[in-house]
Amino acid sequence: MSEGSSNAALDAALKALEAGGLVAIPTETVYGLAANADNRDAVLATYAAKGRPADHPLIVHVDGMDAIEHWAVDIPPEAWVLAEAYWPGPLTLVLKKAERCGPWVTGGQDTVALRAPSHPLTHNLIKAFSGPTHRGLTAPSANTFGRISPSRAQHVADDLGVKPEGKLDVILDGGPCEFGIESTMVNLSSGTPTILRHGVITREMLEETLGFAVPDAGGDAPRASGRLKSHYAPKTRLELVSAEDLPARLADLAGLKVAVMAPANVLDALPTHPYFTLTSPNTVRDYGSALYDNLHKLDDAASDRILVVSPPQDPDWAAINDRLGRAAA
Ligand code: TXA
Ligand code: MG
Repeated sequence: MSEGSSNAALDAALKALEAGGLVAIPTETVYGLAANADNRDAVLATYAAKGRPADHPLIVHVDGMDAIEHWAVDIPPEAWVLAEAYWPGPLTLVLKKAERCGPWVTGGQDTVALRAPSHPLTHNLIKAFSGPTHRGLTAPSANTFGRISPSRAQHVADDLGVKPEGKLDVILDGGPCEFGIESTMVNLSSGTPTILRHGVITREMLEETLGFAVPDAGGDAPRASGRLKSHYAPKTRLELVSAEDLPARLADLAGLKVAVMAPANVLDALPTHPYFTLTSPNTVRDYGSALYDNLHKLDDAASDRILVVSPPQDPDWAAINDRLGRAAA
């Protein structure tokens, strides 16, 4: 793994990208698996490394708003308003794709997803890489398809690894991810803007910025693997339970090794101590940034079952409830 702060790490990452290699990059959401978006073979290698179907579109990561017109056409005014408000940051805009954008990026669809990450290391990497033609990096989350997303460099090292034993050329270590949940995705490619994926930028924030309602995308929305019902899943079966139902569920599962994630007061009130416990953070921000790390820890506990006490069913918790629901599917 490359130490994030050093120039040598950045140089190694640039060289690898230039040569068509694969580089794990830290972002403020989760670690990404980056390749040069203009290089068909490099992008196709990311699908192979993840074991992801090649018809799933990828997000192109760019250095900022200036790149938008190099990758998209028919850009509606709302796209500029949202980019101005939230870039660089955890917001992905889906727009009509420009000619440049090959089918290896878009899975053959006529739209492209764009985002400018704010993590300083990756922002600098893309800036150095992008050049006058605003080259971009495709980057799905750096995990095997369907598994838990990585929020630390170590998760990527454990899952995909570095060549020759592993699959990547360089893992840039930028520390634990600030938010820990994938970017909010907004579809701006047809009609009124809709939410394709919930994230740290909430519906309320989008509506406040745009001044009108932003509904969820319907069933006819562009394909997105994060929309598959079972996604972000631990290997161990995970169930969501209410705090009230937890003691009874534990009694049902007596004899099994059960790992539990619940608030401290709920754990304290249990009559017996489960096989493995994790205290869930109280605030939405802390819960989100620790979510995938906690799911990794619960999975690594090698239990027979994971029980997670459902967080509040509140709009602010939409992204977290969405990811937990898919982890449990
Ligand atoms: O926070 C994030 O967005 C992270 C970091 C690395 O930037 N990336 C990420 O990428 O979550 P990925 O590939 O794991 O998830 C992107 C989702 C996928 O479900 C993909 O199908 C969808 O976005 N997607 C990509 N391009 C699209 C498009 N043109 N239209 C609709 N959905 C698209
Ligand atoms: Mg993913």
